[in-house]
Amino acid sequence: MAKILVATEKPFAKAAVEQIKAIVDETDFEFALLEKYSDKQQLLDAVKDAAAIIVRSDKVTKEVVDAAKELKIVVRAGAGYDNLDLEACSANGVVAMNTPGQNSNAVAELVFGMMVFMARNRYNGSAGTELRGKKLGIHAYGNVGYYVAQIAKGFGMEVYAFDPFVSKEKIEADGITVVDSVDELYTICQYVSLHIPANAQTKKSINSDLLSKMPENAVLVNTARKEVIDEDSVLALMAKRDDFTYISDIAPDSEAFVNDFADKVFFTPKKMGAQTAEANINSGVAAANQIIGYLNDGVETFRVNK
Ligand code: 3PG
Repeated sequence: MAKILVATEKPFAKAAVEQIKAIVDETDFEFALLEKYSDKQQLLDAVKDAAAIIVRSDKVTKEVVDAAKELKIVVRAGAGYDNLDLEACSANGVVAMNTPGQNSNAVAELVFGMMVFMARNRYNGSAGTELRGKKLGIHAYGNVGYYVAQIAKGFGMEVYAFDPFVSKEKIEADGITVVDSVDELYTICQYVSLHIPANAQTKKSINSDLLSKMPENAVLVNTARKEVIDEDSVLALMAKRDDFTYISDIAPDSEAFVNDFADKVFFTPKKMGAQTAEANINSGVAAANQIIGYLNDGVETFRVNK
């Protein structure tokens, strides 16, 4: 029986795993689970006879794809697929997909959880600041950007967005002010929330040149990827500007952020933007259905490789 493997170093909520299993059990495929693995070899062993794999941020490298001799499809249950080696997938005839939009609200809610936490001085009881009336820039208006904008309006923030890949009309229809350049976004907005993917164009693109344009008491919120940050240059900016705050759901590579600017940074202990039961169920179930749709009927919606 062909195997559908859920391989998640960071496990889904129990309910999500149960729902994925129930979907697979209705088919001719066999359900398999590898969670919380600590060693790459465990993944290499588990994928050996898998026809399909569901992963999260787990790295599906060439080594993994080569080890998975039966593999036909890998689905990243989530949005960003920078953890999949697409070339290796294509070279081995493996379809790669993501599940866009399924975990976006969870990430957007964390953006506000972290912004309020820092605006209220980590709930230490001292007088903080409010979000109402502040300008929020959404850097890339995809699914997460959309939810961030919706919640921001509830907070009474002034919302701006920049995204060269989304039409101005579409963003404006959501009641958001569209700016024409990334520089303009950062020049206008005290708060900027990052939602760009990590790719060759965006890596290290968030640097001190850009961030130095931000107004007083600037706050950068990163629930995207650490790779898009030019860490050395942001650290240099923070040394010059003691009004700059960096909040992120992804711990940086450099320990200097925490060591040198403890009061001005906040990092979640482990990437958790999409870590809600709802997001796990939505993205896990979508991944399972996409796999079955592909294996049984050749449906290629949300394919991300050629
Ligand atoms: C995504 O790209 O979907 C998010 O970064 C979530 O990642 P996770 O599945 O590792 O929580």
